[in-house]
Amino acid sequence: MKESGFRTIIKGVSTERKIIWGGQNMDAIRFYSRTGNTEKVANLLSEQLNVKAESIDSPISEPVDRLFLGGGVYNMSADKRLKAYAADLDPATVKEVFLFGTSGSVFTIEKQLTKVLKKKRIPVSDEHLFLHGVMPKMGNISGHQKTEIEEFAKGAVTQ
Ligand SMILES: Cc1cc2nc3c(=O)[nH]c(=O)nc-3n(C[C@H](O)[C@H](O)[C@H](O)COP(=O)(O)O)c2cc1C
Repeated sequence: MKESGFRTIIKGVSTERKIIWGGQNMDAIRFYSRTGNTEKVANLLSEQLNVKAESIDSPISEPVDRLFLGGGVYNMSADKRLKAYAADLDPATVKEVFLFGTSGSVFTIEKQLTKVLKKKRIPVSDEHLFLHGVMPKMGNISGHQKTEIEEFAKGAVTQ
Protein backbone atom coordinates (compact mmCIF):
# COMPACT_ATOMS: atom_id res chain seq x y z
CA MET A 1 0.00 0.00 0.00
CA LYS A 2 1.28 3.45 -0.95
CA GLU A 3 0.35 6.59 0.99
CA SER A 4 0.26 9.86 -0.93
CA GLY A 5 -0.99 12.84 1.08
CA PHE A 6 -4.62 12.34 2.07
CA ARG A 7 -5.08 9.63 -0.52
CA THR A 8 -4.33 6.00 0.11
CA ILE A 9 -3.85 3.81 -2.91
CA ILE A 10 -4.84 0.23 -2.44
CA LYS A 11 -2.75 -2.47 -4.04
CA GLY A 12 -4.65 -5.73 -3.99
CA VAL A 13 -7.26 -6.36 -1.35
CA SER A 14 -6.62 -5.38 2.23
CA THR A 15 -8.11 -7.05 5.28
CA GLU A 16 -9.83 -3.92 6.41
CA ARG A 17 -10.49 -1.53 3.56
CA LYS A 18 -8.53 1.70 3.84
CA ILE A 19 -9.94 5.15 3.34
CA ILE A 20 -9.39 6.07 -0.30
CA TRP A 21 -11.02 9.50 -0.37
CA GLY A 22 -12.14 11.14 2.88
CA GLY A 23 -15.36 9.66 4.23
CA GLN A 24 -15.26 6.19 2.69
CA ASN A 25 -16.19 3.29 4.93
CA MET A 26 -13.74 0.94 6.56
CA ASP A 27 -15.11 -2.55 6.10
CA ALA A 28 -14.48 -6.08 7.27
CA ILE A 29 -16.10 -9.37 6.28
CA ARG A 30 -16.18 -12.33 8.66
CA PHE A 31 -18.07 -15.60 8.28
CA TYR A 32 -18.69 -18.99 9.84
CA SER A 33 -19.26 -21.64 7.17
CA ARG A 34 -19.36 -25.41 7.71
CA THR A 35 -19.90 -26.59 4.14
CA GLY A 36 -18.59 -23.63 2.15
CA ASN A 37 -21.82 -21.92 1.04
CA THR A 38 -21.62 -18.86 3.26
CA GLU A 39 -17.93 -18.63 2.45
CA LYS A 40 -18.81 -18.40 -1.26
CA VAL A 41 -21.24 -15.58 -0.54
CA ALA A 42 -18.57 -13.87 1.59
CA ASN A 43 -16.07 -14.14 -1.26
CA LEU A 44 -18.50 -12.58 -3.72
CA LEU A 45 -19.17 -9.79 -1.23
CA SER A 46 -15.42 -9.41 -0.97
CA GLU A 47 -15.21 -8.72 -4.71
CA GLN A 48 -17.96 -6.13 -4.39
CA LEU A 49 -16.51 -4.35 -1.36
CA ASN A 50 -12.84 -4.78 -2.19
CA VAL A 51 -12.05 -6.15 1.25
CA LYS A 52 -10.86 -9.64 2.10
CA ALA A 53 -13.43 -12.13 3.46
CA GLU A 54 -12.10 -14.09 6.40
CA SER A 55 -13.45 -16.67 8.80
CA ILE A 56 -14.30 -15.69 12.37
CA ASP A 57 -10.93 -17.17 13.36
CA SER A 58 -9.30 -13.95 12.10
CA PRO A 59 -9.57 -11.16 14.65
CA ILE A 60 -10.48 -7.67 13.49
CA SER A 61 -7.24 -5.75 13.64
CA GLU A 62 -8.50 -2.17 13.42
CA PRO A 63 -11.78 -0.27 13.86
CA VAL A 64 -14.35 -0.72 11.11
CA ASP A 65 -17.49 1.17 10.15
CA ARG A 66 -19.16 -1.87 8.65
CA LEU A 67 -18.70 -5.47 9.69
CA PHE A 68 -20.38 -7.90 7.30
CA LEU A 69 -21.00 -10.95 9.44
CA GLY A 70 -22.33 -14.16 7.96
CA GLY A 71 -23.19 -17.74 8.79
CA GLY A 72 -25.23 -20.79 7.90
CA VAL A 73 -28.11 -22.32 9.86
CA TYR A 74 -27.56 -25.69 11.55
CA ASN A 75 -30.35 -27.51 13.33
CA MET A 76 -32.45 -24.36 13.34
CA SER A 77 -29.69 -22.29 14.90
CA ALA A 78 -26.62 -20.20 14.22
CA ASP A 79 -23.47 -22.05 15.26
CA LYS A 80 -22.43 -21.37 18.84
CA ARG A 81 -18.97 -20.23 17.67
CA LEU A 82 -20.56 -17.49 15.57
CA LYS A 83 -22.73 -16.42 18.49
CA ALA A 84 -19.71 -16.40 20.79
CA TYR A 85 -17.77 -14.37 18.21
CA ALA A 86 -20.56 -11.78 18.06
CA ALA A 87 -20.77 -11.68 21.86
CA ASP A 88 -17.05 -10.98 21.97
CA LEU A 89 -17.06 -8.04 19.53
CA ASP A 90 -16.01 -4.67 20.84
CA PRO A 91 -18.45 -1.80 20.18
CA ALA A 92 -15.44 0.50 20.09
CA THR A 93 -14.08 -1.46 17.10
CA VAL A 94 -17.29 -2.23 15.21
CA LYS A 95 -19.62 0.65 14.37
CA GLU A 96 -22.36 -1.35 12.66
CA VAL A 97 -23.02 -4.95 11.63
CA PHE A 98 -24.58 -6.09 8.34
CA LEU A 99 -25.73 -9.68 8.58
CA PHE A 100 -25.73 -12.21 5.77
CA GLY A 101 -26.08 -15.95 5.49
CA THR A 102 -27.39 -19.06 3.81
CA SER A 103 -29.84 -21.76 4.82
CA GLY A 104 -31.74 -24.73 3.50
CA SER A 105 -35.16 -23.29 4.28
CA VAL A 106 -36.48 -20.03 5.64
CA PHE A 107 -34.39 -19.96 8.82
CA THR A 108 -31.71 -17.30 9.24
CA ILE A 109 -29.16 -16.26 11.85
CA GLU A 110 -30.79 -12.85 12.11
CA LYS A 111 -32.77 -13.12 15.35
CA GLN A 112 -30.07 -14.84 17.38
CA LEU A 113 -27.24 -12.65 16.19
CA THR A 114 -29.22 -9.44 16.53
CA LYS A 115 -30.05 -10.34 20.13
CA VAL A 116 -26.40 -10.94 20.96
CA LEU A 117 -25.22 -7.77 19.19
CA LYS A 118 -27.91 -5.57 20.76
CA LYS A 119 -26.70 -6.72 24.16
CA LYS A 120 -23.25 -5.47 23.17
CA ARG A 121 -24.81 -2.22 21.98
CA ILE A 122 -23.57 -2.78 18.46
CA PRO A 123 -26.13 -1.56 15.90
CA VAL A 124 -27.40 -4.11 13.40
CA SER A 125 -28.48 -2.73 10.04
CA ASP A 126 -31.92 -3.47 8.61
CA GLU A 127 -30.07 -4.24 5.40
CA HIS A 128 -29.17 -7.91 5.29
CA LEU A 129 -28.74 -10.72 2.80
CA PHE A 130 -30.05 -14.22 3.41
CA LEU A 131 -30.03 -16.80 0.65
CA HIS A 132 -32.55 -19.61 1.14
CA GLY A 133 -33.01 -23.04 -0.40
CA VAL A 134 -29.26 -23.56 -0.22
CA MET A 135 -28.39 -27.20 0.33
CA PRO A 136 -25.10 -28.08 2.08
CA LYS A 137 -22.04 -27.91 -0.19
CA MET A 138 -23.95 -26.28 -3.00
CA GLY A 139 -22.13 -25.90 -6.28
CA ASN A 140 -21.87 -22.54 -7.93
CA ILE A 141 -23.83 -19.54 -6.84
CA SER A 142 -26.52 -18.73 -9.42
CA GLY A 143 -26.61 -15.58 -11.49
CA HIS A 144 -29.69 -14.47 -9.58
CA GLN A 145 -27.95 -14.97 -6.23
CA LYS A 146 -24.93 -13.04 -7.51
CA THR A 147 -27.22 -10.15 -8.39
CA GLU A 148 -28.70 -10.27 -4.87
CA ILE A 149 -25.19 -10.10 -3.40
CA GLU A 150 -24.30 -7.12 -5.60
CA GLU A 151 -27.50 -5.31 -4.61
CA PHE A 152 -26.81 -5.98 -0.93
CA ALA A 153 -23.29 -4.59 -1.20
CA LYS A 154 -24.60 -1.45 -2.93
CA GLY A 155 -27.46 -0.99 -0.46
CA ALA A 156 -25.45 -1.44 2.73
CA VAL A 157 -25.47 2.18 3.87
CA THR A 158 -24.29 3.02 7.37
CA GLN A 159 -26.65 4.77 9.84
C1 LIG B 1 -25.75 -30.21 10.01
C2 LIG B 1 -26.63 -29.28 9.21
C3 LIG B 1 -27.83 -28.86 9.75
C4 LIG B 1 -28.66 -28.00 9.03
N1 LIG B 1 -29.84 -27.57 9.58
C5 LIG B 1 -30.60 -26.65 8.91
C6 LIG B 1 -31.79 -26.13 9.50
O1 LIG B 1 -32.18 -26.47 10.62
N2 LIG B 1 -32.50 -25.22 8.80
C7 LIG B 1 -32.13 -24.79 7.56
O2 LIG B 1 -32.81 -23.95 6.98
N3 LIG B 1 -31.01 -25.28 6.97
C8 LIG B 1 -30.24 -26.19 7.61
N4 LIG B 1 -29.09 -26.67 7.03
C9 LIG B 1 -28.72 -26.19 5.70
C10 LIG B 1 -27.66 -25.11 5.80
O3 LIG B 1 -28.10 -24.02 6.57
C11 LIG B 1 -27.32 -24.58 4.41
O4 LIG B 1 -26.92 -25.61 3.55
C12 LIG B 1 -26.23 -23.53 4.51
O5 LIG B 1 -26.01 -22.98 3.22
C13 LIG B 1 -24.93 -24.09 5.08
O6 LIG B 1 -24.02 -23.05 5.15
P1 LIG B 1 -22.46 -23.29 5.07
O7 LIG B 1 -22.18 -24.05 3.79
O8 LIG B 1 -21.89 -21.92 5.04
O9 LIG B 1 -22.07 -24.07 6.28
C14 LIG B 1 -28.27 -27.55 7.71
C15 LIG B 1 -27.06 -28.00 7.20
C16 LIG B 1 -26.24 -28.85 7.90
C17 LIG B 1 -24.95 -29.29 7.30
